[in-house]
Amino acid sequence: AYALSDKGCGSDALLGVRGEIGACTRCKLARGRTNLVFGVGNPRASLVFVGEGPGEDEDLSGEPFVGKAGQLLTKMIEAMGFRREDVYIANVVKCRPPGNRNPEPDEIDACEPFLRAQLAAIDPRVIVALGKFAAHTLLRETTPISKLRGRWREYAGVKLMPTFHPAYLLRSPEEKKKAWEDLQLVMKELGKPVPG
Ligand code: URA
Repeated sequence: AYALSDKGCGSDALLGVRGEIGACTRCKLARGRTNLVFGVGNPRASLVFVGEGPGEDEDLSGEPFVGKAGQLLTKMIEAMGFRREDVYIANVVKCRPPGNRNPEPDEIDACEPFLRAQLAAIDPRVIVALGKFAAHTLLRETTPISKLRGRWREYAGVKLMPTFHPAYLLRSPEEKKKAWEDLQLVMKELGKPVPG
């Protein structure tokens, strides 16, 4: 039997969402997963980061953003003046796409209601959408992330900042400056001191 983990379920509302997901077989990603990666962090966070989907390290550990991209995300969170445990971190799809391929539309459609329910349960002040899958899913549009990033948007009454995905920043470190500009806008919004 599949053991339901309660990681990332630190409120009754989040536990309810996790219970709805259950031992999910709503899409084909269920077949290849080791762990369903629900989320991690403060259930009442003012700031939520949304990524794309678990990679190998996340599938094995059951926690989002713990591999190389995750280490960079943790550094970004700390540079903003937060600890990783202060914020909440989740993904668009909760099970690992085979070989880390992109999530497919039917997989996103199956999983998206749970991301939306998670966000409603947390009710943050700001959402940071990491990369195109998070931004396109939450905003329901397909503008390239290079055009979307750095401008405030709104998701269900919550301020949403699209920025580059940390895995992209690892491949294109020259773009880190732009991502940091985006995160500084978030810091200002949340009353965190911005250096310089
Ligand atoms: N990339 C993501 O989008 N999410 C993770 O959890 C890890 C890597």
